[in-house]
Amino acid sequence: MQQIGIGIIGLGTVGSSVIKLLKKNGSLIAERTGIELVLLKAADLRNRKDIAGKAYTKNANEVLNHPEISIVIETMGGVSPAKQFVLAAIRNGKHVVTSNKELIAKHGKEIFKAAAANGVTVLFEASVCGGIPILHTLRECLASNKISEVSGIVNGTTNYILSKMTNEDLGFEEALKQAQQKGYAEADPTMDVDGSDAVYKAAILAYVVSGAHVDPKNIYKEGITKITKADIEYAKEVGYVIKLLAIIKLNNGELEVRVHPTLVPNTHPLAKVSDNYNAVFVRSDAMGESMYYGLGAGGDPTASSVMSDVIELAKKTVNCGSCCGPETYKVKEKKVTLKKVEDIKGRYYLRMETLDKPGVLAGISSVFAKKKVSIQEVVQKESVGNVAQLVIILDNSREKDIRDALKKISKLSTVKKINNVIRVGAN
Ligand code: HSE
Repeated sequence: MQQIGIGIIGLGTVGSSVIKLLKKNGSLIAERTGIELVLLKAADLRNRKDIAGKAYTKNANEVLNHPEISIVIETMGGVSPAKQFVLAAIRNGKHVVTSNKELIAKHGKEIFKAAAANGVTVLFEASVCGGIPILHTLRECLASNKISEVSGIVNGTTNYILSKMTNEDLGFEEALKQAQQKGYAEADPTMDVDGSDAVYKAAILAYVVSGAHVDPKNIYKEGITKITKADIEYAKEVGYVIKLLAIIKLNNGELEVRVHPTLVPNTHPLAKVSDNYNAVFVRSDAMGESMYYGLGAGGDPTASSVMSDVIELAKKTVNCGSCCGPETYKVKEKKVTLKKVEDIKGRYYLRMETLDKPGVLAGISSVFAKKKVSIQEVVQKESVGNVAQLVIILDNSREKDIRDALKKISKLSTVKKINNVIRVGAN
């Protein structure tokens, strides 16, 4: 039986689960692949002898410099020192598997360049949607397809919060506390609720689909902190559920990448994805519509994705010695134009408070009409005093026109407050 030496840096939830999975299913992997994966070194500053046994070391260099380790797994998270370790592994001629979304989203370009120069491969399936094999699916199973859209619920914490607010009438804070207790949230949950975690995943998905490295800083981002129970209720009444979506669209060399709360029609498959589950909806020319669903966080699901990359690299190493090199990841780097969010066309949900008297709606609709923005639906909620709650759904319009119109509407004497503006999507 061929043996392949592996090493791990970072023995937190994911790294520990990788070791446990290897112990549990190592012989099954050997049976299926004819390769024995041998854990030679596992590094963490915290004592993890209980998990890694005699492979345990405090010193990451023992992984990076080990002559018999062909594949280094990085499960530390964060940029520093993970980046230095990954680059050192590459320089030492080792393939790398990482679950680190921030590292790949921010520094993928530099890392892949270094890997190509050193004839090794970096794989990162676990960096997006934990256990869902979405990157393999996009780059291999759909390799014959032109992919025009990838829309995903890629953050379990926010999906859990929105689901609890929608289905159990929980408040935001209470739902967030539950998500943290269940271990879905990042160490700093701001990264989840402000959309940053989803932005990293969107950048990686955009790269796999388009070959373009999009700097996360250039991705439009809105989190879920402004979503209220009122929005969730009103959205429900007009047939939608609110989800935080990462949306990537690619048409004629023009790329859209954005993360924001979205009103998803109840009839769309993403609307049914609840609790901490993730799902990625893909539109491509040959396959049509398809959706990939599962757990996007947690030790075991994420370890499953890490191991799929390790097995892929181990098989190639055995089949072609050390020559499998940079060709393994077949995304060709491309330059595409990133569409400005102001130019994106879409439908919108508005909630506003206005005076309850004749002519108010006429005033609002005339501003929209001047901007050629058409109103699809208006619902007037019960008035309190002489203040009415209006919910308006706008038809497909350019974001800049909506923003300009709303600026004018907010200054009308009949409009007290624009409470929220949420994009309607997944259409
Ligand atoms: N905090 C992330 C989530 C974990 O809630 O989905 C996986 O990246």
